[in-house]
Amino acid sequence: MATASEIAAVGVIGAGQMGSGIAQLAAAAGCAVLLLDADPAALSLAVASISASLRRLAAKGQLSQAACEDSIKRIRCVSTVQDLRDADLVIEAIVEKEDVKKKLFVELDKITKSSAILASNTSSISITRLASATRRPSQVIGMHFFNPPPIMKLIEIIRGADTSDEVFAAVKSFSERLGKSVICSQDYPGFIVNRILMPMINEAFWALYTGVATKEDIDTGMKLGTNHPMGPLQLADFIGLDVCLSVLRVLHSGLGDNKYSPCPLLVQYVDAGRLGKKRGVGVYSYGQKSSSVRP
Ligand code: NAI
Repeated sequence: MATASEIAAVGVIGAGQMGSGIAQLAAAAGCAVLLLDADPAALSLAVASISASLRRLAAKGQLSQAACEDSIKRIRCVSTVQDLRDADLVIEAIVEKEDVKKKLFVELDKITKSSAILASNTSSISITRLASATRRPSQVIGMHFFNPPPIMKLIEIIRGADTSDEVFAAVKSFSERLGKSVICSQDYPGFIVNRILMPMINEAFWALYTGVATKEDIDTGMKLGTNHPMGPLQLADFIGLDVCLSVLRVLHSGLGDNKYSPCPLLVQYVDAGRLGKKRGVGVYSYGQKSSSVRP
């Protein structure tokens, strides 16, 4: 198994909001990145937004022009899981659905070299259960980035029941190599951050649903009243309402408490395809569809 400094090739699966940012970070840290998505349009959008983001950093003097262009060149888009066979570390950032992720982990286990570490960027799903889909549960780990990955300073690392100390140490140092601070969570639904954040977002939906206040007043209240940089409804749009709903469902079923039951308004927005900023409309309307927001 590769140590953090030996992680040279990183596979990233899912080129949406999170996967594209993770690919950018790994490329900027000097890794060869193989970026895979089921949707070719997502790959094109990701490459365009990564290139634009890195060039903006270069224009601001935060990255040399050469480092910027080298990072862009280190990202290769691929079309099958087989293309990830030489990766030292694979980070999965596909849709937040356990059955879909498990299917992918079965395939990854078959295809990748035996020393490869398999990480999931899941917001809430059990790492132990994803690991159980493989024959290498000691090499499966949660690597939970925050949105947008190039800006947010944190990675929450989740140890499954069988994650080895060596894999934890390698992923922790690799996260630090990406310039991030690390926290470690046991494998319980929603881990640390979403266990606390999602009930607040859900409560904001209940406040809106039951007519306590307007969306603007709910958000302004939490921004100015509790010093949050963004109101909870605005943050939900930013995360993706589909992701929020999936996480709440995992909390609800995993922790068995009705306080996590998703607000009907959130469910209705997702049913209507109002998924937030990435689709141009969620709680709020945005000018145009964007795959991510970057520096
Ligand atoms: P997204 O909807 O922006 O992107 C998901 C991408 O995965 C799409 O491009 C889709 O085409 C692709 N995809 C879906 N199934 C696939 C498959 N089987 N194989 C290959 N590609 C596939 O979603 P987002 O927001 O990037 O979330 C991805 C993961 O990251 C989820 O597990 C989510 O819970 C987690 N996450 C999301 C955060 C957020 O703020 N949005 C923060 C931290 C984690």
